[in-house]
Amino acid sequence: MQLDQITTITEGTTKILALKQSITDKVPPQNVAFFNPKAKLSRDFSIIAYSAFLKKFDGPRLFLDSLAGVGARGLRVANEISDVRVIINDLNPSALELAKKSAELNGLTNFEVSENEVCRFLSTFSKKGHRGAIVDVDPFGSPARHVDCGIRATVHKGLFSVTATDLQVLHGIFKDACKKKYHGVPIKTSYSDEIAARLVVGLINVIAARLDVEITPVFVENNMHYYRIYVRVLNKPDTQNRIGYIWHCRTCGQRGASHEQVASCNQCSSKTEHAGPLWIDRLFDKEFLLNMLDEIPKFQIDKTCEKTIRKCILEADMGPCYYTLDEIAEMRHSSPISLLKIIERLQKDGFDATPTSFNPTGFRTSAPIGKIKEMF
Ligand SMILES: C[S@@+](CC[C@H](N)C(=O)[O-])C[C@H]1O[C@@H](n2cnc3c(N)ncnc32)[C@H](O)[C@@H]1O
Ligand SMILES: [Zn+2]
Repeated sequence: MQLDQITTITEGTTKILALKQSITDKVPPQNVAFFNPKAKLSRDFSIIAYSAFLKKFDGPRLFLDSLAGVGARGLRVANEISDVRVIINDLNPSALELAKKSAELNGLTNFEVSENEVCRFLSTFSKKGHRGAIVDVDPFGSPARHVDCGIRATVHKGLFSVTATDLQVLHGIFKDACKKKYHGVPIKTSYSDEIAARLVVGLINVIAARLDVEITPVFVENNMHYYRIYVRVLNKPDTQNRIGYIWHCRTCGQRGASHEQVASCNQCSSKTEHAGPLWIDRLFDKEFLLNMLDEIPKFQIDKTCEKTIRKCILEADMGPCYYTLDEIAEMRHSSPISLLKIIERLQKDGFDATPTSFNPTGFRTSAPIGKIKEMF
């Protein structure tokens, strides 16, 4: 790799060496040392999520970045969060060379690199006493094949974070592939982003259950390119069943979640469509989110992080399946009203109503569809 091909990027307070091509090309090349500048926001969220987690974590503070590319996430964790040992892994030696140079540039002594196949790397940490406090799996496409070794390498009460970028699969363009990889299928709705996130959590839950491990989602985050799921891992069998279906009525627009499929709509009795099996329980842990909020002032991160976390806090205890202003306006053949107004009106009528972090025009409510339409 020649020096004139390399550039230095600063994210947070960390200097990251990457190939210039990763910055100039529309899509960063995958086969050379991988770095995606567009994923900065996802790394900003990781910094506050990991920092919030470690603040309450009692045990060896080891972060395993199992698919690290040039090490952007691992370098930031090692440099920006105090007292963490970071080991990054990738199959690509050129990426690791850059990571090592970046570590020197930042003066890091708590940063190691490993060149190995992801599951081989993680399996060297799957023995009791060697596991990571935080394990990250950030592949190209679906994380499905790495979830098992990721969970095995995460310590009891640890944090496991996962990225999924196979959006076409999760949005139902390839339904068979989705069924194979995630054990469930999506349906096309205005809240497809939530369905996609629930399919990923559902998969993690199914694999964890096989290993007698309980998982609890604490934070979920998405944008146009990816879903990021953060789950707490407990090394004990899960006694609850939190897998089920989302049912959706195309006639009146009502939606809901339940353990079993619901054949007809509870508002208009029409036949329903189903997504799933998928995760139907909470996606957020309010206490964890409040801790994330507390961490924000310590770091140089994007302003939108705070806005998003505040929305997550509001929606943390709400039920599944949000609505969007556009879809209700379309049903009513009217122009959309403001999000704030609809939330206020619903609350005034005694219903729970909050915005959602999944969609800027989305809202969650306990009101039935008829009531929501009336408000427009
Ligand atoms: C999406 S990138 C990781 C990006 C990185 N986590 C970040 O935040 O910038 C996926 C990485 O996985 C690596 N990779 C792909 N298959 C692998 C495997 N089987 N074992 C180890 N690394 C692998 C690729 O070389 C690539 O660097
Ligand atoms: Zn209906």
